[in-house]
Amino acid sequence: MEIALLRGKRIILGVSGSIAVYKAVDLASKLTQAGALVDVVMTEAAQRFIRPLTFQAVSGRPVYTDMWTTETAGGLPSHIAHIGLAEEADLLLIAPATANTLAKLAHGLADDLLSITALAASCPLIIAPAMDGGMLDNPATQANLEVLRGGGAHLIEPEQGRLASGLVGSGRLPETPTLLGHIRRVLGLDGPLSGQKLVVTAGGTREALDPVRYLSNRSSGKQGYAIAQAALDAGAEVVLISAADIPTPVGANLIPVVSAESMLAAVLEHVAGSSALIMAAAVADYRPRSVSEQKMKKSDDSLALPLERTRDILMAVKAQREKSGYPMIVVGFAAESENLVENASGKLRSKGLDLLVANDISGDDAGFAVDTNRVVALDMDGGLQAIDLTSKAAIGAYIIERVGGLLA
Ligand code: CTP
Repeated sequence: MEIALLRGKRIILGVSGSIAVYKAVDLASKLTQAGALVDVVMTEAAQRFIRPLTFQAVSGRPVYTDMWTTETAGGLPSHIAHIGLAEEADLLLIAPATANTLAKLAHGLADDLLSITALAASCPLIIAPAMDGGMLDNPATQANLEVLRGGGAHLIEPEQGRLASGLVGSGRLPETPTLLGHIRRVLGLDGPLSGQKLVVTAGGTREALDPVRYLSNRSSGKQGYAIAQAALDAGAEVVLISAADIPTPVGANLIPVVSAESMLAAVLEHVAGSSALIMAAAVADYRPRSVSEQKMKKSDDSLALPLERTRDILMAVKAQREKSGYPMIVVGFAAESENLVENASGKLRSKGLDLLVANDISGDDAGFAVDTNRVVALDMDGGLQAIDLTSKAAIGAYIIERVGGLLA
């Protein structure tokens, strides 16, 4: 899948000798598919686990292994040619980073191609340590990690779980989506929205009937999460207020909520001082008038449930914004199955929005639960832009670009 932030980016992937190298192959492949140019540098130990050819096949580029070879280095010994590679890189990522590699990096050793490259590189450095039983907790490793952190490296926390030895502990290399999330966060840091706080809501609220049942809707949260990811890519600080249960983008501050009422409270709290609110959640308009403490028993052939209105979150935000000035920008959504533009422009005005993204939910390929969407964006100046069927990621990027424009 193409990722705009990664398109054309030069990434050096340093691979050291851990059993987790197989995950680095998947990462190199996904980075390449995302549009990055991946130059893999392997240590000798890494080559004991996997052949350079494997990385070459997934990245489509030469793989660097030996300090002294001239084969892949245009006639120069590769330890010299690599100064150029390090200078051109947008990012150096070491995954997996073994305890030995960490020690070398922390102390400035430069006795193989990877450590030389790391010493020469001035681009951001991400390190993903991976090691077996007890090695991570060892005071020497911890001290090395501290030195690297102090030097500005971004460390990816190893995960808990089963290690290759059969021991259970901390030291596993995270899976590709998590690694990609960290890469995006670091590459996005100086983006156009850096220093801005964005609040994004996502998912369908659940309104309890009794301890086991609730009323809800078909929203998956995917569009809201794609907006949160696009905001992170642009360097924003992101608060994601979510009623959905899907993987959180790396770097987002997740505030889990369940009902319309809990979402309302979270939104009013977090929009204080914020640059923008993007209200992508499908909030219930009604909830059961009372919540049964015990599980409801069936009795009659039919059942009528008395419902009451929930408070409209955007209306409450409008009132708070009039007093406090925050959020500076408000973006709403409208899910419509008929008269899309007419209904949407009504909502734009009544809810006091700067931008309204109207979803046509009548087709199967757009709107709820799928990965694609088709929207019309309406603004306060009467602007109207239709975006034909595309990925929710692309729509997320479009909305974030519009928010950037409104803030500027
Ligand atoms: N919304 C909200 N609070 C609610 C219901 C909806 O803030 N209690 C927000 C949604 O997050 C969305 C916008 O209002 O950004 C429009 O939601 P939508 O369901 O399309 O419209 P409603 O205002 O609920 O109107 P209707 O259901 O009558 O079309």
